Amino acid sequence: MSGNIHDRLAELARISDEPDALTRAFLSPALKRSHALVRKWMEATGLAVHCDAGGNLIGRREATEGAAGAKTLVVGSHLDTVRAAGLYDGPLGVLAGIAVAAELAETPLPFALEVVGFSDEEGLRYQTAYLGSRFYSGRFPAEWLELTDAENIPLRQAAIDWGSDPADFLEQEPREDLLGYLELHIEQGPVLEQENLSVGVVTAIAGQSRVALKLTGAPGHAGTTPMTLRRDALAGAAEFIAEVERVGHRHPESLGLVATVGQLTVEPGASNVIPGRTEFTLDLRHPDNAVREAALAELETAFKRIAAERRLDAVWIVRQENPAVPCDARFIEALVEAASHEQAVVPELVSGAGHDAVALSPLCPVGMLFVTCRDGLSHHPDEFTAPEHIDVAVAVLTRAVRALAEDI
Ligand code: HGY
Ligand code: MN
Ligand code: MN
Repeated sequence: MSGNIHDRLAELARISDEPDALTRAFLSPALKRSHALVRKWMEATGLAVHCDAGGNLIGRREATEGAAGAKTLVVGSHLDTVRAAGLYDGPLGVLAGIAVAAELAETPLPFALEVVGFSDEEGLRYQTAYLGSRFYSGRFPAEWLELTDAENIPLRQAAIDWGSDPADFLEQEPREDLLGYLELHIEQGPVLEQENLSVGVVTAIAGQSRVALKLTGAPGHAGTTPMTLRRDALAGAAEFIAEVERVGHRHPESLGLVATVGQLTVEPGASNVIPGRTEFTLDLRHPDNAVREAALAELETAFKRIAAERRLDAVWIVRQENPAVPCDARFIEALVEAASHEQAVVPELVSGAGHDAVALSPLCPVGMLFVTCRDGLSHHPDEFTAPEHIDVAVAVLTRAVRALAEDI
């Protein structure tokens, strides 16, 4: 099993928008090429495959009884990646879904099964996560069509370039047929490896705020402009980033507040010119929405204070906020029970990372299974999960789906 998944992950990882790293963005040429491969694997498992206008690749098997009105259980993850990604974050969950469908091919199911490769969980291209799963679930906000990427291409145009009609993003109704969503994902943290375990069950997904920030000062000659006369946009950004780190360190509990400035551009970007403009991002997360919202307000105040003191023009745009999401008690129980056949201890963990389950959670119960990853490393080319752990994880996921089928 896992050899097959491992080989497929390696094959899939060769499909990238960049020559020297694995990067697959929303509605990009690489995403389209990845679909050709994953479609083949889905069809070989007997799934009926289509790609929706939002770029989600969907392999579907009808309910065995063909019961009219049977609900749909979704098992999947995302096929898009961050920049310079690893092999597992996203694709592992999609391939595991295909493996589950293969394992259950002869098992009567009272629900339809959809294995889904979502088109955008990371938000790399439009700085807005869950574009794919929001479209898939019928909850795509019309205003997102006007989002622009780094090349100033509106999402509307990206949809047209992909071969979709932007109108499909407007005439949506929230799906009412979803029985639930299950996702296998690497832990992207150190707990399971420290406890020498293969899998753990997710109890909740931390809330997340993504902010776009701009500081505009005055470019000038680095050699002739006195320090007291400067409006240095990078120095302002640096003072704010130090504040972000100070606030982040304030909540030392295990998975506390995490605050990250991951992207920053400087203009004009010459060593002998005072930076006149910076654009950067803030990613703020915590399992408790009140803590995250208080930290966000504190950092917005600090940002505007620093800009005022330095006579910089400041722009603060909250691009996206996702509240913390609890996983479904029944799904947690089914996953813990299934995992208890594989390991004596089954840890229950909060996910600091976001997942497509967040986008589906308003419409159906969600459950997630974590599989250990080496050094807890993710969003990195050295991401790794050993085949024996993948075997355990797929067996647990399959057992849980089977149990849900018997439990209906
Ligand atoms: O950033 C995240 O939380 C996830 O990896 N998209
Ligand atoms: Mn990720
Ligand atoms: Mn992911």
